[in-house]
Amino acid sequence: MKKFKIAVIPGDGTGPEVVREGLKVLQVTSKKYNFSYETTFFPFGGDHYKKTGETLSVANVEELKKYDAIYLGAIGHPEVKPGILEQGILLKLRFSLDQYINLRPVKLYPNVDTPLKDKKPEDIDFVVVRENTEGLYAGVGGFLRKGTADEVATQESINTRKGVERCLRYAFKYTQKRNKRKKLTLCGKTNVLTYAFDLWERTFNEIAVDYPDVKTDYAHVDATTMWMVKNPEWFDVIVTDNLFGDIITDLGAMIQGGMGIAAGGNVNPSGVSMFEPIGGSAPKYTNLNIINPLAAICAVQMMLDVLGEVDAAQGLEKAVISSLQSGKIKSMSAGKMGLSTQEVGDLVASLI
Ligand code: IPM
Ligand code: MN
Repeated sequence: MKKFKIAVIPGDGTGPEVVREGLKVLQVTSKKYNFSYETTFFPFGGDHYKKTGETLSVANVEELKKYDAIYLGAIGHPEVKPGILEQGILLKLRFSLDQYINLRPVKLYPNVDTPLKDKKPEDIDFVVVRENTEGLYAGVGGFLRKGTADEVATQESINTRKGVERCLRYAFKYTQKRNKRKKLTLCGKTNVLTYAFDLWERTFNEIAVDYPDVKTDYAHVDATTMWMVKNPEWFDVIVTDNLFGDIITDLGAMIQGGMGIAAGGNVNPSGVSMFEPIGGSAPKYTNLNIINPLAAICAVQMMLDVLGEVDAAQGLEKAVISSLQSGKIKSMSAGKMGLSTQEVGDLVASLI
């Protein structure tokens, strides 16, 4: 029997509550699908920072490298200046563990409301492969004449051939394996970002030759947001850079029913990957037992898939779908579910 070592970072706000439900479902899934695991909890987050002044040390990162996967709740604290925890924990983990892919499925499940009129589950089922370690997130730039009337702030997008290529290769392979429409759309801005997306486009076209069964397509990022609303059924897999991926996946989360159900994986195919609900810590809902745990539960499903427990991942997804088909969960929004956070977790667990 396989045994996985999972590092759990419940984090801030509602993070611990949704992680608890995700772990409840994981436990039931492990019994049914015959794998085992052990969890180790880490306190990183806003409260830990306020107590210790530390976000995440080099030693912490080294420790986390010993695990098979990381399961993260949410990072973000109302009393900590924006940026400190995001950069000091979330981005630091992504970068230092070289989780160069951010995988974000956009899938409308049955009985979930989408704001898109006339769109059904079969119309909204695509995956965004977001580059996760470069681009405008690289932190390159600075100020000139800071604080003066002539101040200039620059922020550069870093796109390395190696970084772009490994992301694109992952996206091609993923599209092939997903085996749906076998279509990969490069989302960029070649008409304005003529250096960065020239590299992306050239590399995309070169790699495409190795995947003759994958259809390729290109869309500017602005047009992509338009098609995601108007014709989401056109997409199968979208590959894009870090910032564009960040932006379009919030839109993606909305069309699939909201942050309550949107999960993501920060993947290092040969290292430690990290799975999280993509919404924030939602501090105003903390400990009210009304936050939707489905995104965190779907993050567990993605974790099992990446860990190679494919049947378990499929079984878990079926249980999520059955829970939605039961009609017992009235909405994806906090406080409107008709069930508590724990009851949603129990419901999914009972359907595994
Ligand atoms: C996300 C978040 C992060 C990002 C923030 C919190 C730094 O928005 O995971 O999408 O921009 O990547
Ligand atoms: Mn985001």
